[in-house]
Amino acid sequence: MNNKPNSDKNLASLVSKLINIIIVLIVIVIVLVGLLLIYIPIPAKQNKVEGPKPDAFGNFTDAAKQEALKIKDTTNYWIAPEVSTIGNQQQKETILYGRDLIANTAEYFGPNGKIFKSSTNGMDCQNCHLDAGTKIYGNNYSAVASTYPKYRARSGGMETIYKRINDCFERSLNGKAIDTNSREMQAIVTYIKWLGTGIKKGIKPPGSGLKEIPFLERAADKVKGELVYTQKCQSCHQQNGEGKFNTENTAYTYPPLWGNNSYNVGAGLYRLSNFAKFVKYNMPLGVTHNNTQLTDEEAWDVAAFVNSQPHPSKDLKKDWPKISEKPFDHPFGPYADGFSEDQHKYGPFKVIKDKLKNN
Ligand code: HEC
Ligand code: HEC
Repeated sequence: MNNKPNSDKNLASLVSKLINIIIVLIVIVIVLVGLLLIYIPIPAKQNKVEGPKPDAFGNFTDAAKQEALKIKDTTNYWIAPEVSTIGNQQQKETILYGRDLIANTAEYFGPNGKIFKSSTNGMDCQNCHLDAGTKIYGNNYSAVASTYPKYRARSGGMETIYKRINDCFERSLNGKAIDTNSREMQAIVTYIKWLGTGIKKGIKPPGSGLKEIPFLERAADKVKGELVYTQKCQSCHQQNGEGKFNTENTAYTYPPLWGNNSYNVGAGLYRLSNFAKFVKYNMPLGVTHNNTQLTDEEAWDVAAFVNSQPHPSKDLKKDWPKISEKPFDHPFGPYADGFSEDQHKYGPFKVIKDKLKNN
């Protein structure tokens, strides 16, 4: 009868082992649930996409399929503030002056400019920053106040809004930088900062700047691009690509895409991806990001055609002081990645971008 205490002991140790196992299992379950919560993204409310709905018999009707083609976009895009909400009269005047300088830049700095004659190529900022920099994915200024000053690899240093604006004067407008203290620069900066009212530091609101466009598997093709140009661009931008002045010769009705009065080779649009993004979601004139006309291929190919035509030169010796920071589509060597200048200009880009990412 003396094995009873022994079996009690065995039972006790069995129970305690079981308890240990249960504790370990509970801990594992808690850790797993925790990991799941961390790694499974909670679906964002914005960008909600509604699929087609089946009919009473569970079939997708043609109407439902049609609906599916027009993907519903319920994103809360940025909306520019209203001028009528500005209370302070002096501030209102400055902002309106800034907006006019963006919309009608040539009136001030173009061939018959009121402030400087011909200190630019005669283009307006608004030719590329549509609707005075307020159009969704029309290269708008919504994220400028919240993201500058910032580090830019092109200059290899911190850039203020002033420097960034003068970059566009010197490159996109192929002209002279304007004095930072001038009334004009102050008005442009006040206007651009006001557009960013209420946007938190570091945030880019939905619809800011330019919309991404998928890469092609192949290089962009300027021969195919010329065909796109003739059919879909030439009627406005003209056969020689040099655009068309208004009848008073004060500003462009249709801005130039190449030639002496277009953006120079140091400008943002001279990089193929910027051109393709701009054109896909904004051209031919009148299209919007959710109602486009060009396919991705047409956008890349016409970009290749336009940027293979002559553009004014620019001394770029001081750009990209660290060559390893050159973007995949910067069209001038030397490069740190071993790909050719031609591939950096026309693609295929994905292999370059992947390699840059792995560095
Ligand atoms: C020929 C087209 C073109 C014209 C004209 C032009 N820009 Fe730009 N601008 C661009 C492009 C493209 C970018 C974006 C470049 C990039 O991201 O590399 C840009 C970027 C900017 C930015 C920075 C935007 C951001 O979110 O980082 C500012 C500010 C700016 N431009 C101001 C101006 C002003 C002011 C003028 C007129 C004096 C002007 N631009 C004229 C094409 C143009
Ligand atoms: C119906 C006339 C029209 C057609 C067609 C058209 N554009 Fe434009 N494009 C314009 C106008 C006008 C602007 C200036 C917009 C503004 O100032 O509001 C512009 C601006 C541009 C710009 C930026 C400014 C510049 O000159 O660098 C580019 C790039 C551009 N268009 C490319 C194209 C391409 C590529 C096509 C063909 C796929 C095309 N456009 C078709 C009228 C047109």
